[in-house]
Amino acid sequence: MALRHFLDINSLSPAVLRNIVDAAHEMKRAGKKVPARLSPEGIDLSVLVMIFEKPSTRTRVSYDVAMRQLGGQTIVLNHSDLQLGRGESVSDTAKVLSRYADAVMLRANSHTTLVELAENSTVPVINGLTDKSHPCQIIADIMTFEESHGPIRGQKVAWVGDGNNVAVSWIHAASAFDFELSIACPGQMRPDKEAIDWLKNANARVEITDDPQTAVRDAKCVVTDTWVSMGDTDEGYRKQVLGPYAVEQSLMSAASDGAVFMHCLPAYRGHEVSAEVIDGPQSVVFDEAENRLHAQKAILSWCLGGIA
Ligand code: CP
Ligand code: NVA
Repeated sequence: MALRHFLDINSLSPAVLRNIVDAAHEMKRAGKKVPARLSPEGIDLSVLVMIFEKPSTRTRVSYDVAMRQLGGQTIVLNHSDLQLGRGESVSDTAKVLSRYADAVMLRANSHTTLVELAENSTVPVINGLTDKSHPCQIIADIMTFEESHGPIRGQKVAWVGDGNNVAVSWIHAASAFDFELSIACPGQMRPDKEAIDWLKNANARVEITDDPQTAVRDAKCVVTDTWVSMGDTDEGYRKQVLGPYAVEQSLMSAASDGAVFMHCLPAYRGHEVSAEVIDGPQSVVFDEAENRLHAQKAILSWCLGGIA
């Protein structure tokens, strides 16, 4: 089997991604006991090493629980626990960890660290968030969308707020899963140039506007994220520029009937979203957080050869 890294939504085929989301739905239906069909061979002797250069609640705990429910083991490390933190190269670290572990998950400050780790690793590497993207989140998000609205293909999702790392993975997903994505963000906070350039040659229905009302029209789901991502230094400026992009009840009411509200969390009530929306009946944020667990099991199963 070729090495299966999970680095970005746009580095995997639509068929593989669909299999992963379908497996995530199946994992959820099955509860804690993983169906034998989705269980990788030799999982009881497999170890996932996780390295965090930035804080994490959901990614850290859901991957740990996911690997345990699959029947494997985990080692969770902060970047500073490793010699990496005092200058050992990423490539040497990748080669060494590959001799011990069966998969490595990294949450990195810089996407280039992730790519270098994967290039030098002989075991699967998983992107647990970088400055550029957050693909694991999007598997859980597609799954969450589908729980209320059925298959996402052909439907419309609106992203309102900062065009950040999570928005970039949504852009990649719009192409892979063939849905419409409308992004409303200020001109200064548009998604990364690399993602915009990628879009030019991608077969994707992605609109970028500065008007939240335009973005949410007919959308079955409104998504936002924090205005200040980990590593952002210009908090005051961001809050000022992003002010008009707060998701309030009036904006939710302008979306399609039955639209759901999603947020990868952590959320900051009174900034990117009002308490009324995130704690209201349209919000599915805690299902979305739960679905990280089912999604991680599916991603791990794919990386370790449990699903095609
Ligand atoms: N959504 C998400 O990745 O959360 P954490 O930063 O808590 O892992
Ligand atoms: N955009 C946020 C997502 C946190 C899960 C960040 O990068 O901090």
